[in-house]
Amino acid sequence: MKNILEAPFVVELCQMCSNMYRLGWDERNGGNISYLLEEEQLKDYLDVTRVIKEIPTGFDASYLIGRYFIVTGTGKYFKNVEKKPEESLGIIRIKEDGTTAQLLWGYSDGGKFTSELPAHLLTHITRLKIDPGNRVVTHCHPDNIIALTYVLPLEDREFSRTLWQFETECIIVFPEGVGVLPWMVCGTNEIGQATAEKMKDYRIVIWAHHGIYGVGKDLDEAFGLIETVEKAARIYLLTSHLKRINTITNDNLKELAKAFKLNYRKEFLD
Ligand code: 13P
Ligand code: ZN
Repeated sequence: MKNILEAPFVVELCQMCSNMYRLGWDERNGGNISYLLEEEQLKDYLDVTRVIKEIPTGFDASYLIGRYFIVTGTGKYFKNVEKKPEESLGIIRIKEDGTTAQLLWGYSDGGKFTSELPAHLLTHITRLKIDPGNRVVTHCHPDNIIALTYVLPLEDREFSRTLWQFETECIIVFPEGVGVLPWMVCGTNEIGQATAEKMKDYRIVIWAHHGIYGVGKDLDEAFGLIETVEKAARIYLLTSHLKRINTITNDNLKELAKAFKLNYRKEFLD
């Protein structure tokens, strides 16, 4: 067997956690990531017939039976994932009952997967039905996005249009807009279901006064969505106390959509 600590998916995930920590998006244990893996990617690093323990998830993920995920552990600091990958991360497989996670590697100090597993796995289910290439769900707490949820109406249209207006590339990066959820208790099946429902229409979901979810075919894509939203939110906030004398108009956005052949959400500009 090869050393799993050198597996590309472990190395890349560790680097991503450090990067996000340094950006200030993952204070303390804030944030979590899940990454869908194929058995083929794992078999040189892990005996997948050896189950360390079984952990009930408390929700039904039957659609994912037999699928493997590497997932950050609950309570683990992103700051430390790269230093302590085996404690901070775990590889799980969804058992035939659809409600049990079989631990194959990691959580070596007796820990378990993130408390946000419902939002992660239910989002994976939704996105895989839309895009079979989706692999990653990322959650984090970027300052400016959270700040925006204190000053804008918590509506998909309002958030999407505002973000599109505050950085030219936004409509190109997320032409479908962003979904916004009202404040809810985190770590519950309810917020998980609500997030997955929004993910039917969007790849970015903002949790009011808490943070953001982004998805993608790899870690970079999910990160890139969040990074773009965070930048637009920052520019909005940098200018919000100043007299605004210029803007990107709805017509400008429509011109961009035409030039880049974007299938944008038309009702957000009309
Ligand atoms: P976990 O430590 O359980 O991953 O929770 C962090 C978090 O961001 C909750 O929303
Ligand atoms: Zn969180």
